[in-house]
Amino acid sequence: LEDPHFITTDPNALQILEHASKLLAEDQVIAIPTETVYGLASNALRPEAIKGIYKAKNRPLDNPLIVHISSLKMLRSILPNGEIPIVYESAIKRFWPGPLTILLPKSDLIPSEITCNQPTVAIRFPSHPVARALISKCGFPLAAPSANASGRPSPTLASHVLTDLNKKIPLIIDGGQCSFGVESTVIDAIGTKDPVILRPGGVTYEELVKIPEFERLRVYNKDYVDKKQEIAPTTPGMKYRHYSPNAKMVLVDVCGRVGARDIIEREIQKMVNGGMDNIGILVTGSSKTSNGAQPMSVDNFYSNKECAIINDFKVSTANDQNIIEYTLGDSSHPEEIARELFKGLRYLDERKVDCIIVEGISEEKEGLAVMNRLRKAASKTIVE
Ligand code: TXA
Ligand code: MG
Repeated sequence: LEDPHFITTDPNALQILEHASKLLAEDQVIAIPTETVYGLASNALRPEAIKGIYKAKNRPLDNPLIVHISSLKMLRSILPNGEIPIVYESAIKRFWPGPLTILLPKSDLIPSEITCNQPTVAIRFPSHPVARALISKCGFPLAAPSANASGRPSPTLASHVLTDLNKKIPLIIDGGQCSFGVESTVIDAIGTKDPVILRPGGVTYEELVKIPEFERLRVYNKDYVDKKQEIAPTTPGMKYRHYSPNAKMVLVDVCGRVGARDIIEREIQKMVNGGMDNIGILVTGSSKTSNGAQPMSVDNFYSNKECAIINDFKVSTANDQNIIEYTLGDSSHPEEIARELFKGLRYLDERKVDCIIVEGISEEKEGLAVMNRLRKAASKTIVE
């Protein structure tokens, strides 16, 4: 395959949509921007097209895909008897289009390659204008997992997709940096007595629980665990190591506790003393700009390596040791941290750090999704 070409998002870019929809109609797989992360899309109604997704990202064959729609009419056309369960009605009104995925009964129109033989299908109505326009132009729903190579951090820039899938797909549509930066929230309100968040994401628990039907909303692994799931997980977000940088990652999960900064500092110093040449740190700090999409990261290649002051951390390093810092954003704005999270992990990976030390944040609002991803990515978590 030739290198995929980049196309900038332009509201009038009908030609791009034309080209993309033609590829999709031929059962090809392409990368598209969404408001959460980039997606790797193909025709959700065609087994051959869906198989192409698993192949391109080397995804385990038992990890089901999300189906993306661009209208409720399209949704009804793929549901058994065209019925949307009443329990979801308010959530759909409130959060669609947007970063919420719901589990629905599967009809025969949905190939088993999508659902991996589960009785439910995960559906999402994205808000990103390019994704919406493209699905609508295609006239069929698009299956789309995140457009990373399996196991890697999800892509929030078109260049991340290129890094992982170069020469594997014919087209990446560049829509700039994804505004949420973490994947959609996946909820199941039909398979259990009380609705459950299977994967926290762009729509927060605090927002969802306000919906009358979701008053008793649980969060999987926090206040709800299904024994059967633990033995044979059907939501492989729970099963596979995920979102991981190449470097070994240590999560310092001591947010808000007295002496938290000292503990992070001590961990950095431990890595330094252990002789690591390149140490990456991913920390909270001052707020990013208001438009939220600026690459504000700073390399701290200190000229005086005797004592580097990193984000108020005091660490003594040897001459040939580098500490590379990426500031995620203000911890009191978890949406900023979410937006920068995967970009920060990939930024440090590109600089070939030997290890990454990450500062945990509070699990409020988008912080729940951030900590969920960090826990799955970390090879070691420090809690004390
Ligand atoms: O924001 C998003 O959701 C992005 C963008 C591209 O839309 N997509 C995404 O897809 O994150 P993926 O494949 O990376 O994550 C899909 C998650 C997986 O954890 C999968 O296990 C779960 O949804 N899932 C899909 N179908 C399911 C089902 N029938 N039952 C339970 N979990 C399901
Ligand atoms: Mg994914």
